[in-house]
Amino acid sequence: MDSIHICGGYPLYGETKVQGSKNAVLPILAATVLVDGVTTLNNCPDIADVHCMVRLLESIGCVVEYGGGRIRVDAGHISKTRLPREYVTRMRSSVVMMGALLGRMGNVTISYPGGCVIGKRPIDMHLRAFVGLGIELEEAGDTLTARTKCLQGGCIPLAFPSVGATENSILAAVAAQGETQIYNAAREPEIDALCGFLRCAGADICRKGDGSIICVRGGQSLHSCCYHIPFDRIVAGTYLLGCMAAGGRICLKQADGRELTALAGVLEAMGGRLVYGEDSITLTAPERAQAVPCVRTAVYPGYPTDLQSQLVAALSLAEGESIVEETVFENRFRAVPELVKMGADIRTEGSRVTVRGVRALHGSQVRAMELRGGAALCMAALAAKGESRIMNRHFIDRGYEALEQDIRNLGGRI
Ligand code: UD1
Repeated sequence: MDSIHICGGYPLYGETKVQGSKNAVLPILAATVLVDGVTTLNNCPDIADVHCMVRLLESIGCVVEYGGGRIRVDAGHISKTRLPREYVTRMRSSVVMMGALLGRMGNVTISYPGGCVIGKRPIDMHLRAFVGLGIELEEAGDTLTARTKCLQGGCIPLAFPSVGATENSILAAVAAQGETQIYNAAREPEIDALCGFLRCAGADICRKGDGSIICVRGGQSLHSCCYHIPFDRIVAGTYLLGCMAAGGRICLKQADGRELTALAGVLEAMGGRLVYGEDSITLTAPERAQAVPCVRTAVYPGYPTDLQSQLVAALSLAEGESIVEETVFENRFRAVPELVKMGADIRTEGSRVTVRGVRALHGSQVRAMELRGGAALCMAALAAKGESRIMNRHFIDRGYEALEQDIRNLGGRI
């Protein structure tokens, strides 16, 4: 069944281990294409987007073994450079296969990528970065071919610190001759995970200055290696906000508070108490959370856009009026009408929502419209009195490996 049933209105008490990061493993899987040998990745989440990336790797000739959280990619015999439309259009992060295939084969053909419906999401910055490395582009309908006879390092000034464009630039630059400087590079921890993996395979990459310049000395051949995928800070944040909505005390294992400072600030302003262990985060929610004056989403280390819907869900039960502003994506309030069905009092005006906290939400049948908005509805359902049915669970399966088990571990009824 493409739905999740939750019986809510009870505080959460319990602990669970946080899965490996979706946004880290996807570009790292693409990066295995640059390794003329075998890569082993541990702590990989078992989610739909990872399955899709595995299909893309297999389609170009990689031999992939996947099971028990481990993925082994043998990229020794890559033979194709056309990525099948079926998988490319399923998720936006398929676009990072471009940089990797350009690096390995010097050419790639791809349809325009798909992904969550949260705004237009163009790839103009990715393409400008490629041109800066001497790559030629040719468009025919919705298909794009990129090719180069000789990848040359260069200077890539990004107009915005796009996560995907930074990843694509790094992947192509690693294989290019000479040095590449990426200015205004994204600072998300997932970029550091990608650089960490590439260094482990023999690449020469570092951040410079305040971290916004990434310097790649390209041309080294990459060797087989084994890498551990870090925890998923967005999954951790989702559960912490679920606990703020429902109340109680939860402990997340294998989570690092240093990557969640912006969220921690908001949780504390709402009255939550956080305790950090060596490898864990414990949150005690207040009797009733307090509203926050204004939270704006921003690039890292700002408040993550991927935790915006979950925050709106938690604030819909907080005492007072809060404002949440989305600055990274347009059209990212698609969970709002569904939260309103559960009794939330939320007004949307352009890129802002005003949330007036209500005393209680009620269980309802609601529809997930995309991944994080769907997770937000599950968190709201844990707090809402009575039974909720969240439809379109396939969106949620794109990013949450074991949502049911995690919620059960945290004491929720699902
Ligand atoms: C990644 C994450 C996603 C997260 C987002 C922002 C993955 C797999 N996905 O997505 O979960 O929400 O970062 O933290 O890691 N843009 C352009 N032109 C471009 C590229 C981007 O205009 O060429 C715009 C986008 O439309 C968006 C903004 O830049 O408004 C941010 O996008 P970007 O940082 O590239 O996000 P993604 O890499 O797609």
